[in-house]
Order: sequence, then C-alpha cells, then structure tokens
Amino acid sequence: MNRRGFLKNGAAAASGLLLLKPLTAFGYQANSAVRHGLLGCGNRGTSVADSFSQNTSAQVVALADLFADQLAAGRSHFDQLNQKLGRAPIDSKLLFRGPNAFEQLAASKDVDLIQISTPPFFHVQHLNAAVSAGKHVYCEKPVGIDIRQAGEALKIAPRVRSTQSVDVGFQCRNAPPIAAIAEKIKAGALGKIGAVTANYNAPASTEKTRAGESADEYRLRNWLWDRALSGDILVEQNIHIIDLCNWILGARPLKATATGGRNILKHAGDCWDNYQVDFTYPGDVHLSFSSTQFGDYGSFDAGLKLYGSSGMAAIPYSGPMQITGAQAWAWQDAASSATGGGKFAANGAFQDNLAFADRDKERTFIESITSGQSHNQIAAGVETALSCMLGRMAGYQRREVTWEDLLAQGETYQLGMSISQFA
Ligand SMILES: NC(=O)c1ccc[n+]([C@@H]2O[C@H](COP(=O)([O-])OP(=O)(O)OC[C@H]3O[C@@H](n4cnc5c(N)ncnc54)[C@H](O)[C@@H]3O)[C@@H](O)[C@H]2O)c1
Repeated sequence: MNRRGFLKNGAAAASGLLLLKPLTAFGYQANSAVRHGLLGCGNRGTSVADSFSQNTSAQVVALADLFADQLAAGRSHFDQLNQKLGRAPIDSKLLFRGPNAFEQLAASKDVDLIQISTPPFFHVQHLNAAVSAGKHVYCEKPVGIDIRQAGEALKIAPRVRSTQSVDVGFQCRNAPPIAAIAEKIKAGALGKIGAVTANYNAPASTEKTRAGESADEYRLRNWLWDRALSGDILVEQNIHIIDLCNWILGARPLKATATGGRNILKHAGDCWDNYQVDFTYPGDVHLSFSSTQFGDYGSFDAGLKLYGSSGMAAIPYSGPMQITGAQAWAWQDAASSATGGGKFAANGAFQDNLAFADRDKERTFIESITSGQSHNQIAAGVETALSCMLGRMAGYQRREVTWEDLLAQGETYQLGMSISQFA
C-alpha cells in the first residue's frame, strides 16, 4: 500500500498518527508516524519493533526476513498489534523475503526507518544498504564481528547524512537507574577510579530445529552457537557490559589478556561457553571480566562494579543500584524500575533495572529523527565491538593482545555458505 492508500485507510487516521513525509529536512510533522521497516523478524527484532510501536510514533509498515516462516510470524504479530493500536495492517507489497530482502526493504519509498535485527554477521552489510538508501537506522549490536567488518562500518559512518539518524542497540545506557548512576560516577562520585570488575552469567541458548532443514539452515537458525554468525558470546552478548564500562570510564581498553573455552556445552557450533578477560584501560585501570553461557539455574546475573578512591558503585542488571562511600547514593525511584526479574530474557526485555531501557532508548532515537537532532552512533558502536574482539583474540590466542595488534592482524571470519541458496 502506498502512502495515499494508508491515508485513505480509516484505521491509520483513527490512531491519530498520519503517515506523512517530513515537512522539512529537519523534522517531522508533530503528528506524523515514522514509517518503520523491520529487517529480521525474530525474537529480539519483534520485541523491539513492538516496543517502538507501543512507546513512540513509529509504526511498523514493512517486514523483511530470509525465511518465509519468520516473515509470516512477523506479519501475524504486527497485523494484530497494528489492529490493537488502530492502525492499518501491513501491505503485502511491503513484505520482503529471501537473501535480497534487505535490499528490497532499503529500496522501498514507503519506509523511513530500518531496524536491523538480523544475526550479527550481516549487520554491516545491512547497515550499508540502509544508510546508502538514506534511511534512519536502528542497528542491533555488535557493529561488526571481525576487523574487516569493523573497518567497513567505519567507512559507512561518514556517509550518514546530517538528516539521517543511526543508533546502535546499546539500550542499557538508557535504563533510568543506569543513566542516573553513570551521571554520578562521571561527575566524580567515586573519586579516582582504580579498578573495575564485571560479569555476565547467562543460561545456554536453546536449540531451534525444523524438519528437513539443511546443515546451513540449521546454522542460520542457531546462529548464537556459531562464531562467524555471532562473533562468539563476548562480542554478541557480553558486549552490553563492556559497552557500559567503556562509556562510564570514557575510554576503551588498550590491551587484554584472556582465557576461556568450551567446558560444558556439547552441542553444535564453536562459540565458547566461558571467558575470563583482563582488560587494561588508560591509567593502568583494569577491568576483570568473567562470563559464562551454559546451564540454566533459573537465574541470571550480569553487572559491573567500579572501585574508586572514595566510593564503590554497583551496577547490576538486577538488584540494588547504588554508590557506597563518601557520596553514598541509591536508586530509589520505584516508578522507573519494575520489580521481579533476575531472569534471563533472550529478547533483551529484562525486568528490574533494565525494565525501561528499551522504551527510553527508542524514545530518544525517534526524538532524534523527529527533532532533526540526528545521531550517528556507528563509530562508537564499532569501538565497543572492537573492545570485545580484543578480549576474544586474547582468549583464542592465549596471549596479551594490544589494540594495535588487534587492528594489524586483520581478523576475518568467513560465513562458509552462500545465503543465495535461500532465494
Ligand atoms: N540489545 C539486546 O539486548 C539484544 C538482545 C537479543 C538479541 N540482540 C541482537 O538482535 C539480533 C537478532 O537476535 P534474535 O535473538 O532476534 O535472533 P533470531 O534468530 O530470533 O532472529 C533473527 C532473524 O533474522 C532472520 N535472518 C537471518 N539471516 C538473515 C538475512 N541474511 N537477511 C534477512 N533476515 C535474516 C532470521 O530468519 C530471523 O527471523 C542479533 O544481532 C542479536 O545480537 C540484541
């Protein structure tokens, strides 16, 4: 359906949101919806696009996916949601399937914003298509799984126009309790920061199978187990904690030593199930990071602690968010922090301290589009991805790796299949 079709549709008008082009190069009309296309209709993609629809003026009008069943599930989900919100169903002309779906979505004139929620191996390729087509982009982390992709992303960054906004999916920074404690730490509440510890202990991811699928399709559907597709657990999932550390310290690691391996997992794939990394930041500040991804004990634990000359800050995903010491402080705004939690959420929709992380991230991003105060988070996203690759390389090579070593080695992962077979 073209825009005129939408406007003729009473459901769209009833929602109070008109699907209109920006009035000026800098902003959207106050009541116009940002036309949202979701690329990758899986667990996280659906959850985030749903949250955009419920919390912002974005309206899902297009979907794209490699696989027909995923696209159909997405269509069913968003048709129901759009109906609930008094909006038009998705036009079948804006449903794109197959290996070129990302290009077809990018070429669509009926889409303003592309949300990239495909497996990490494809992020940079999909980012390139979306940026080149002039779309606003919400790209899931990581921005690149290897040095080659990171380099490509850094070449895309300067091509983002001043009227385009590009965000990377580090929503933890926007969680109200984390935003509040980070502001205090950056203002000096801990004195001189001397050391950081952090952990990310998550359950194993679950297997997805389909009758009659090929080995390649199995890999794609279980991409979390696959180094080339995911970047391994440090780059794919633990990245949220490394990102918080970089952001709060205002620096990236200079070097790392690490160990780890695959001690428990026996299923297919080659990702490790545990990492122990020592990152060195400027000023000889060390981050001691520990990660596991196996088992399922009904609980989940992730967070970081920063130790300063006059105080300590505890930043858990779940549990008390506080500073002890000279400038003691505790997060107490119950209205902005849900109760319960301590449970892993595969779609990133955690409870407790992260309860409103997605909502606030999405609102900030849409505001950057409608106000014309555009974001371009590609380079920052790449820096965090590279920080994780530093730890990963140190682990795989069982040696100290400096940032310069990491860049010089030009690590490149091969997918080992052609996705054109899924046309
Ligand atoms: N920010 C967070 O907290 C958070 C949480 C979970 C996942 N993620 C990220 O979100 C992304 C998606 O994760 P997920 O859990 O939804 O995975 P998923 O497997 O549930 O969904 C991925 C979707 O992409 C589709 N796809 C695969 N290859 C494609 C291609 N080449 N072109 C088009 N579609 C393709 C799949 O068919 C599937 O529908 C990943 O990058 C992951 O790292 C972020």
